[in-house]
Amino acid sequence: MKEQLEALRNEALAELAVLSDAKQLEDFRVRYLGKKGSVTALLRGMGALSAEERPVMGQLVNQLRQELESALSEKNTALQQAQQEAQLAAEKLDVTMPGKKIKSGGLHPLNVVLDDLIDIFQSMGFDVVDGPEVETDYYNFQALNVPEDHPARDMQDTFYLADNLLLRTQTSAAQARTMEERKPPIRIICPGRVYRADEVDATHSPVFHQIEGLVIDKGITMCDLKGVLEQFAQEIYGKETKVRFRPSFFPFTEPSVEVDVSCSECGGTGCRVCKGAGWIEILGAGMVHPSVLRMGGIDPEEYTGFAFGIGLDRLTTTRYKISDIRLLFENDQRFLEQFDR
Ligand code: DAH
Repeated sequence: MKEQLEALRNEALAELAVLSDAKQLEDFRVRYLGKKGSVTALLRGMGALSAEERPVMGQLVNQLRQELESALSEKNTALQQAQQEAQLAAEKLDVTMPGKKIKSGGLHPLNVVLDDLIDIFQSMGFDVVDGPEVETDYYNFQALNVPEDHPARDMQDTFYLADNLLLRTQTSAAQARTMEERKPPIRIICPGRVYRADEVDATHSPVFHQIEGLVIDKGITMCDLKGVLEQFAQEIYGKETKVRFRPSFFPFTEPSVEVDVSCSECGGTGCRVCKGAGWIEILGAGMVHPSVLRMGGIDPEEYTGFAFGIGLDRLTTTRYKISDIRLLFENDQRFLEQFDR
């Protein structure tokens, strides 16, 4: 039986030496040391031995079992180590490789200019208010002194959604809403998208952006309007900028003006940017029409006010010398990246 033991030992160790993965090791353990394994079978067979032989053989078989168990665990450790080393070698990191640049988003040029504008007006005490883009006929037209069938409706080509519902053609729609919500003194701007059924070209888009301004208080005059707009224009275009008023017509202001700023590119002598005029038109404005005040629940005998509407797209294209308004809406990253800041 001793020889049998020795033979089993040699066979097991020889076999273990060539095993190369975890599964083979487990098979090996089951075959030799498991419940039905060869070493276990030897222990079971000891009943047939004499009382003197039994303890001697028992010790030998236990020794064999321990020897195989520790050989197995050594082999297991060695295999794991080899595997880890192989993995480390395969996943070697070159820390001198340049990293990948992660692109972060930036502000759209319209937002860059709008943020500046909001800063300027907030510093003069204006609040920023919001209004709906889907607007009623009342706020977009009637409350602005443009009754149904009034010829002034032809000034703006309107997208109607339903009988009394439309896409606002002007942020002026915020005027009556504000008058209903606030009592004078009122000092607000309302920036936002506006819509008109215009053909798309280098200077027109069916969606564009305006900033409405509205100031109502006792004793407000045209001088206040000019002061506020001068301050605004000089902050945007530089201290030397001059502002000029040209008489104009809007149904909701009386008198109405169109406002030009001296061209910041040539200083007023005429160049490509101002098309030789020396002036660039940037907004419409005027003194709020008494009827508009009345419809907004404000007594025109007691209060006066001024309003203005700035075209944000125009302001942005002239500031950055962008030749085509469509660039603002195409979202071409190569274009937009130039305005990141
Ligand atoms: N809403 C006018 C437009 O879209 C712009 C405008 C002109 C707004 C005069 C005003 C204003 O508040 O007083 O053409």
